Amino acid sequence: MNSQRTPLVAGNWKMHGSLEGNTVLLAEVVKGAGLFGRAQVAVCVPFPYLAQAKSLLAATPVRWGAQNVSEHTHGAYTGEVSCAMLKDFGCRYVIVGHSERRQFFGETDVWVTRKVQAAFAHGLVPILCVGERLEERDAGRTDRIVTEQTEMATGELSSEQVVNLVVAYEPVWAIGTGRSATGEEANRVTGLIRRALGRRSGGASAQTRILYGGSVTPDNAAEVFGQPEIDGGLIGGASLDAGKFTAIVRAASRERGNL
Ligand code: PGA
Repeated sequence: MNSQRTPLVAGNWKMHGSLEGNTVLLAEVVKGAGLFGRAQVAVCVPFPYLAQAKSLLAATPVRWGAQNVSEHTHGAYTGEVSCAMLKDFGCRYVIVGHSERRQFFGETDVWVTRKVQAAFAHGLVPILCVGERLEERDAGRTDRIVTEQTEMATGELSSEQVVNLVVAYEPVWAIGTGRSATGEEANRVTGLIRRALGRRSGGASAQTRILYGGSVTPDNAAEVFGQPEIDGGLIGGASLDAGKFTAIVRAASRERGNL
């Protein structure tokens, strides 16, 4: 990891949780905060639990966010949640374009682009997810897919926005499968994403935090976070276990040389 970029480890709870279970999990994550070192930590929870996250985390170093947002500001969009609503609940982050949204809910690059812009317009930090599917990797199209997804979603951003943006490289075949990319390959593709960002934003992309996501565990965290291009992780399954999640956060801090 580059020492200029503050590491970030964000949990993606997906559609998991309960009021009771979250209370225990968040208390344990907060308890581990003293061991986080320089790494920043966030949890992206289901919408109904944002109020709970706000009340339990407001006085702690742990930030919170959502897993999706509407590109519209308000209006007759049944079932949608706006950026302003996320701000009302104190969110700092919002995951945009996760592969599960693209795969199961038909999110296109055009929507993802609008959502990234909407997030910035309302003072939220988008965690933009990009990544190739297995058949695309097997067909040798990884680099093209990831570059196109990145260019499409960020083409209209200012240099300042590129600095504040968080990108997560998440190869779809590695998500929830227990099959992580090797550190070396994750680093290579992350570098590619940084260059794609840099073509439009000049030097700004040197400051963009790019995370890796896909079956990160305490066992492979050091290998992943030891890579120079990778600035932290987007953690699914392991973020539901406070012990595993805090071990991953500590690995991120250690690889940055401050623990
Ligand atoms: P995983 O999920 O850690 O369970 O593979 C990562 C993600 O989907 O963000």
